[in-house]
Amino acid sequence: MIQSGNENLAPLKTEALDEEEIIIEQTLRPQTLLEYIGQTGVKNNLKIIIEAAKKRGEVLEHLLFYGPPGLGKTTLAFIVAKEMGSNIKVTSGPAIERAGDLASLLTNLSEGDVLFIDEIHRLNKAVEEVLYPAMEDHVLDIILGKGPGARSIRMELPKFTLIGATTRIGMISSPLRDRFGATYRLEYYPEEDLQIIINRNSKVLKANVDKTASGELSKRSRFTPRIANRLLKRVRDFAQVHGHDTINQDIAKKALQLLEIDALGLDKNDRRILETLINKFSGGPVGLNTLAAATGEEEDTITDIHEPFLIRLGLLAKTPKGRVATEAAYKHLDIAPPSLAQKTLL
Ligand SMILES: Nc1ncnc2c1ncn2[C@@H]1O[C@H](COP(=O)(O)OP(=O)(O)OP(=O)(O)O)[C@@H](O)[C@H]1O
Ligand SMILES: [Mg+2]
Repeated sequence: MIQSGNENLAPLKTEALDEEEIIIEQTLRPQTLLEYIGQTGVKNNLKIIIEAAKKRGEVLEHLLFYGPPGLGKTTLAFIVAKEMGSNIKVTSGPAIERAGDLASLLTNLSEGDVLFIDEIHRLNKAVEEVLYPAMEDHVLDIILGKGPGARSIRMELPKFTLIGATTRIGMISSPLRDRFGATYRLEYYPEEDLQIIINRNSKVLKANVDKTASGELSKRSRFTPRIANRLLKRVRDFAQVHGHDTINQDIAKKALQLLEIDALGLDKNDRRILETLINKFSGGPVGLNTLAAATGEEEDTITDIHEPFLIRLGLLAKTPKGRVATEAAYKHLDIAPPSLAQKTLL
């Protein structure tokens, strides 16, 4: 497998993975579609197009994966390349600064290679324009010279598959989006799937985790495999330090309490966002930029990481006027909701 040197796969700031975590992710990353848990619709569809492309002896069409962080987009890109028997080259939107950077990536591809562009919504316009003909006709248009004397030459490229991944489908321009043969949305994982992932990975990590503990962890994993793995590892560390051979629900709960992860899986930052909304803005509605300033979080972090999760739990709602804390949020945080009378006075 080839991996390009200019990897710039830094995830969102608050999601920044430390070195140990990156190693854990790589060890626990499923290698085949069979090992990839859940996302049945996406998997079935991929199986068909992979099989069909192989039967025809063709290069796989361009694919786009989108969804919140940690749901398995990068994992899936690697699996697709492996199932196709292709090499994969990895880069990301912000790493490709100039059209020339993309040109050199493209000209270094071989027939059938997969080019994986993470955070593809962050490609700049000039780079995108080089990508269009490359995706569509497998050609590279190079402009030589400047002004009236400039001329363009066309270079044939090997047939390749572009796999794009993004947490922000809305930020992808429609000409780029239209050039993908298939687009897949990854969904949050149900608890049952997360429990399977935790049970499997506890064996890989040689942690003796019983069913009650994996159940508890799966409930608090924000519907996200990356978080499930992270919690598993932290709980394993906790058990080791305290000399427990088997991890049961009680130990899992104690470890999670230490990590300040509550019964629904909210962390400190999730709670701070809700508390700010309730205490400083009477529950909202409040605009994103105001909420970001008041909590000291970046807007992107709120929209990509916290908001989708809180909305999914029904603790936060998005209205045309801004974000609102729901009644369930008051209840969860044990804060008395404003009475109807108070609300009408506001
Ligand atoms: N379907 C799955 N089955 C088992 N494990 C999974 C699955 N999806 C993801 N994981 C685990 O979660 C980790 C994170 O997944 P991955 O890096 O692919 O997420 P991502 O969607 O690319 O996130 P980001 O948007 O932050 O780049 C993987 O290393 C893997 O261990
Ligand atoms: Mg990724």
